[in-house]
Amino acid sequence: MRHIQIALTKGRLEKQVVPLLEKIGIDCTELKDKGRKLVFKSHNTNVSFILVKAVDVLTYVEHGVADIGIVGKDVLLENEKELYEMIDLGIGKCKFAVASIPTYDPSSYKKKTIATKYPNVASAYFRQKGEDVEIIKIEGSVEIAPLLGLADAIVDIVETGQTLKENGLIVFEDMHDISARLIANKASLKMKKEEMFAIIDLVEQVVKEGE
Ligand code: PRP
Repeated sequence: MRHIQIALTKGRLEKQVVPLLEKIGIDCTELKDKGRKLVFKSHNTNVSFILVKAVDVLTYVEHGVADIGIVGKDVLLENEKELYEMIDLGIGKCKFAVASIPTYDPSSYKKKTIATKYPNVASAYFRQKGEDVEIIKIEGSVEIAPLLGLADAIVDIVETGQTLKENGLIVFEDMHDISARLIANKASLKMKKEEMFAIIDLVEQVVKEGE
């Protein structure tokens, strides 16, 4: 049996992905008790895992270092890569939204400044609305930007809405629903067809059962 490397993201999604992998029979003991390790073996299968930042999941899968990746649709929408998106896992659900302080006027004709970690998603959204905006790329804690006058509004991920609420921001426009996706390296799907589909088919089954 050929080895399959799965790239996972650190953080929130990781906690929801482990139960899914366990449901398809992959031992995740090392992953659950990881300390500061970044590479893990599964003791009962041909699978191993790497734990990386979300956008790096795409890079590892595109280059075939990882055969499979699990990553949010937000990251896929922001970064175009040569890989296959195989399954909507129905976990890690959240949305992209335009948010700001209550005095923001979305229908104002003044050219808006939008702060975001997702410049491509934000540009595409406003372009499709026929609006010319200035985008400012921020690496995190984007909610601060409209509060301090760096931007008129933000484009960001909203999950529970707690971060917006605690910073006095509200959602003005819902953009896209987001959820985690299983992605695959194109060559691995051909070269390791049997091993790849042994995993992909099982994941698909578990996702269907959970719907
Ligand atoms: C994301 C997003 C919001 C927050 C939304 O940030 O950018 O800040 O989650 O979640 P909520 O609606 O449940 O409050 P993340 O925690 O990924 O990190 P960041 O600080 O790097 O933006």
